[in-house]
Amino acid sequence: MSDKRSTHFGYREVDEDAKAGLVAGVFHSVAARYDLMNDLMSGGVHRLWKRFTVELSAVRPGHAVLDIAGGTGDLAARFAGIVGSQGRVVLADINESMLRVGRDKLIDHGFQGNLEYVQADAQYLPFPDDSFDCVSIAFGLRNVTDKEVALRSMLRVLKPGGRLLVLEFSKPRNELLGKAYDKYSFRVLPLMGKLVAGDSESYRYLAESIRMHPDQETLQEMLEDAGFVNCEYHNLTGGIVALHRGIKA
Ligand SMILES: C[S@@+](CC[C@H](N)C(=O)[O-])C[C@H]1O[C@@H](n2cnc3c(N)ncnc32)[C@H](O)[C@@H]1O
Repeated sequence: MSDKRSTHFGYREVDEDAKAGLVAGVFHSVAARYDLMNDLMSGGVHRLWKRFTVELSAVRPGHAVLDIAGGTGDLAARFAGIVGSQGRVVLADINESMLRVGRDKLIDHGFQGNLEYVQADAQYLPFPDDSFDCVSIAFGLRNVTDKEVALRSMLRVLKPGGRLLVLEFSKPRNELLGKAYDKYSFRVLPLMGKLVAGDSESYRYLAESIRMHPDQETLQEMLEDAGFVNCEYHNLTGGIVALHRGIKA
């Protein structure tokens, strides 16, 4: 028996210090086909979830925004268009393959000047205290080894009054929807992953990691415990996804 602390990688129990490497393997593998798979798996609906996230962010011209686990840059691109030349958007991700795909895509789309790319772990954000008006993390928190540590790190880098937005898979509110969604996740997703990205295991991990992630109420409590105030959440697509918001006092 190992005396190290354990955590989950999907349904598997693993040593805490093994998880980051396993997660890295998933995102190195899927990076090239990540955007295509997102559109296929969600039927394009992830764009609406992300649009709603930006609406709730209250980001304005001149703001500084940090998008953690930003991957291929969907949120960062939207924020960059809003903050303008006086503002600043940092796209941070732990994984160099995802960061490279994101940076290449945004440069190809003409985004430059107010966008920076930083390879960073959500748990140990390399920014001074009180740096950002808004911090976002979309479909990233699930993959982080110690979510409490990461949430406290996000609180630290936010300016007082700044907002955290956590967009993440959650628990469907309706039993019937939940059952259909389970079938879709465990039967269709790995098959789609195999056909499109040549990798069924990473999409099995996706389905399992969603089931292991805290539900709406638990995640809200975690935000409160980390020190965020005025926490609230919005269920999207029947609770398949939830958007949590918390403020730094
Ligand atoms: C499912 S993708 C989400 C990408 C993007 N935010 C989106 O919504 O399309 C999850 C991202 O989290 C990143 N990630 C995983 N663990 C992380 C950590 N500890 N710190 C920062 N990023 C992490 C992965 O590299 C990957 O790019």
